[in-house]
Amino acid sequence: MITGGAGFIGSHVVRLFVNTYPNYRIVNLDALTYAGNLENLKDIENAANYIFEHADINNAEQINGLFAKYKFDGVIHLAAESHVDRSITDPNAFIQTNVMGTANLLNAARTLWKGNEEGKRFYHVSTDEVYGSLGETGFFLETTPYDPQSPYSASKAASDHLVRAYGNTYHMPFVITNCSNNYGPNHFPEKLIPLFIHNIKTNRPLPVYGDGKYTRDWLYVVDHARAIDLVFHKGRNGETYNIGGFNEWQNIELVKLLCKEMDVRLGREAGESEKLINYIKDRPGHDRRYAIDATKLNKELGWYPSVTFEEGLSKTIDWYMANDEWLNNVTSGEYQKYYSTQYN
Ligand code: NAD
Ligand code: DAU
Repeated sequence: MITGGAGFIGSHVVRLFVNTYPNYRIVNLDALTYAGNLENLKDIENAANYIFEHADINNAEQINGLFAKYKFDGVIHLAAESHVDRSITDPNAFIQTNVMGTANLLNAARTLWKGNEEGKRFYHVSTDEVYGSLGETGFFLETTPYDPQSPYSASKAASDHLVRAYGNTYHMPFVITNCSNNYGPNHFPEKLIPLFIHNIKTNRPLPVYGDGKYTRDWLYVVDHARAIDLVFHKGRNGETYNIGGFNEWQNIELVKLLCKEMDVRLGREAGESEKLINYIKDRPGHDRRYAIDATKLNKELGWYPSVTFEEGLSKTIDWYMANDEWLNNVTSGEYQKYYSTQYN
């Protein structure tokens, strides 16, 4: 079972598994919140080894029923509330889904697998944000103490602790990965890169928080999915692996690169899109810098990103230029309400 498979990263994981493992039965469990979109999976929706279950991880009865029905051998858990800005305005939704929803899955897996844990695996997909914020130097290691700073990262940290506690107390076979910022096709346009591509395309201001000198480590989403495949099959039980792009960018430098690329695609004069940059009030409690040291994953399992940032960004822009319909569908209705509340 893959939870959150209709979301950004989940859809890439589902596609990879459906195409790579014809002899697995892959169940995608998703509540289809604003961030879930079955259009992300159009190309594989009729595959013989794929099933979609519209279900909510907050509904324990529903979850127990699905574990009884399918007798899952493995869970790859991506379903979550994932947007930091939304966690600032509505923390409870994050505590509910990310903490209680994860507990519901752990309880169902524990009941099904009790006394028969051999060959089973609960894979919890987490974030580098649980480690807090870095100064100008240094990297997050798997041993870095947790220091979450936003309601989102605190809820993800709580879920990581629960998974480890179930491993320790009930012998739940688990792995956890903590990944840096993803980008790529199907990214909901409320996060930095897809939001700014959309705004450049439609000539809207580019809302850069604070001084724009916040730093993130960017990874192409398909490389995250490849890492998940590798860790799910070959990672050591009870271990944590950090996943990152070896690719740090200050927001403002990244935005300028994006503007430059978009000028070329849109046939605009050089420097035209940069004029849309608009510094606005900072995000409360904004983490200054994230940077992952992914050496453990590289040394143990041989993983390394397959595309450079320039290649990945170019593929991403191509996808957003070619998929107007997808973008129009997700930016109508509720999106407009969110946008005007967040940025006006
Ligand atoms: P997303 O917001 O695009 O997708 C989340 C998916 O979960 C959606 O399909 C949504 O419908 C589903 N979902 C939400 N609540 C649910 C519920 N109660 N029951 C069932 N399904 C529910 O998120 P994403 O960016 O793809 O992130 C996926 C996971 O990866 C999250 O756990 C996130 O914390 C983690 N992560 C994300 C990033 C990133 O840069 N996006 C980086 C590291 C880790
Ligand atoms: O580090 C991994 C995390 O990356 C994931 O766990 C989260 O699910 C994911 O959303 C992402 O969190 P960030 O907060 O880093 O991503 P976001 O795209 O929201 O913001 C990236 C940076 O850009 C951050 O410093 C805030 C800034 N920003 C963002 C938005 C939406 C702006 O300056 N303006 C904006 O409008």
